[in-house]
Amino acid sequence: MRDLVAEHRLAVSQLVAPLFVAEGENLSESVPGLPGLYRLSVDRLIDEVKSLRTLGIRAVLLFAKVSEDQKDNTGVSALDPNGLLPRAIKALKTTVPDMVVMSDIALDPYSSYGHDGLVELDNRGEGNILNDETNAILGEMAVLHARCGADMVAPSDMMDGRVRAIRQALEAAHYTRTGIMAYSAKYASNYYGPFRAVLDSAPGFGDKKTYQMDPANGREAVAEARLDEAEGADIVMVKPGQPYLDILWRVREAVQIPVAVYQVSAEYAMLKLAAEKGWVDEKQAVLESLIGFRRAGADLIATYFAADAARWLNQ
Ligand code: PBG
Repeated sequence: MRDLVAEHRLAVSQLVAPLFVAEGENLSESVPGLPGLYRLSVDRLIDEVKSLRTLGIRAVLLFAKVSEDQKDNTGVSALDPNGLLPRAIKALKTTVPDMVVMSDIALDPYSSYGHDGLVELDNRGEGNILNDETNAILGEMAVLHARCGADMVAPSDMMDGRVRAIRQALEAAHYTRTGIMAYSAKYASNYYGPFRAVLDSAPGFGDKKTYQMDPANGREAVAEARLDEAEGADIVMVKPGQPYLDILWRVREAVQIPVAVYQVSAEYAMLKLAAEKGWVDEKQAVLESLIGFRRAGADLIATYFAADAARWLNQ
């Protein structure tokens, strides 16, 4: 009876699995803070994505773990046609063609400063982010990923105007069928720690507060989402998830396009730890967090629990 009248449902097809790609062969490296998650070389990534597809997962979101010697303050390795993400995208689109491949667009994995944009040091030695110069590179990065077969590019950088820059770059290169999933309301959050440890991408100086949002702000999130919709985004995202359910709801009311939420690394880590201690039941607690996102308005959910949730939902 409860199922008959349930107001919201969670389906495997609504889940997006974030994955970390690393150099090497036959590499599946566990990562501190994210039990059950791995950095994968491209060959192992293919196996993982095949198994996700078998579970009914429709989309993956790729992040690159770039070695320290590849990082600089120009973004050049982000534009390398033989870089990690280009190779991963191509490999996936040839081996698991019906998996939607979303690729991360931002400079932090490639930045010697660990920032999402190019950095300029001012005469006091303080670093500033070069917004518009960064946008030009993000546009090129999106075109490169599109050429490799990415179905959607996912800018997580929070530069102003980057959705328009990316959309224009894609149009100019005739990639008219490549979608944009914009991290529109991305907060300067303390919940990204384990992710930064995986990619070794913690900011080298300062923080990300000049481009990521203040957790105190809600109206600004609505404004950001509307801007991204107008600039040509196909999906807008709210991130993190659990502390921002109100934002999810407000953004869902404000735009016409699909809204995604990202249950980020520390949300995963906290649930995992509590489950490990026996303080929550993992399956019940995770499924409750996911249906909460649906109730708050999420059309799709990026979560490190994607594979587990799919298994539970398929049971
Ligand atoms: C950076 C990026 C971050 C995450 C996704 N893309 C971290 C940051 O902004 O420093 C975090 C995801 C997570 O914590 O799971 N472009």
